[in-house]
Amino acid sequence: MSRGKLITFEGIDGSGKTTQIGYLADYLRSFDLDVLLLREPGGTRIGEDIRRILLDMRSHKMTSETELFLFEAARAQLVREVIRPALEKGQWVISDRFHDSSVAYQGYGRGLSIDLVMALNDLAIGETVPDLTILLELSPKALAERLEKRHGEGQGDRIDVESDQFKERVSRGFQTMAQAEPQRFIRIESLDEKERTAELIRQQVRRILL
Ligand code: TYD
Repeated sequence: MSRGKLITFEGIDGSGKTTQIGYLADYLRSFDLDVLLLREPGGTRIGEDIRRILLDMRSHKMTSETELFLFEAARAQLVREVIRPALEKGQWVISDRFHDSSVAYQGYGRGLSIDLVMALNDLAIGETVPDLTILLELSPKALAERLEKRHGEGQGDRIDVESDQFKERVSRGFQTMAQAEPQRFIRIESLDEKERTAELIRQQVRRILL
């Protein structure tokens, strides 16, 4: 049996990843592929416990270094306990966020050294690098509207309530990373018409992986 593929979705909070992952999973299943959906941090019992600590508002004293280690710990567990065995079995794994999120959020967002974040990523994932990473981007106008809406709602988890400047740094970080690795990343604008965005993603997945 052939090895499965690992596809990761990245983008800032509210870029529409969850909806698009659902569409892509349905599409891949229509080819009789066995699809496994995961989210980071999480996907294992240990990872879900770590997720609670990370997103808990009571963790406001958490340092950036602690935050990075916790994301990497959850990831190291997920890769070994779930992703590698799934790929071996021929499953197609789609993850809502993966190692690039640490570079974007803890590196570009929090200001930790990019090289250091990449070194820890390397320890956590080893050779389990995604076959394809879909970066969902919002137009500047959509991004501004999205930030405005979140302010009105006054909600979100500990990382989601960060400042607009933080989110802009994260967003620019993702762009820089996509430019540096054009063979792995595809950049897709997240449109209001979700079905159109889904079709753009399907076209790229067909071209590259099917
Ligand atoms: P989640 O509720 O999954 O948010 P989203 O639906 O936007 O993906 O929460 C995950 C949060 O953790 C999100 O704000 C991004 C952040 N994050 C990091 O800061 N570093 C990481 O390595 C990962 C995987 C996520």
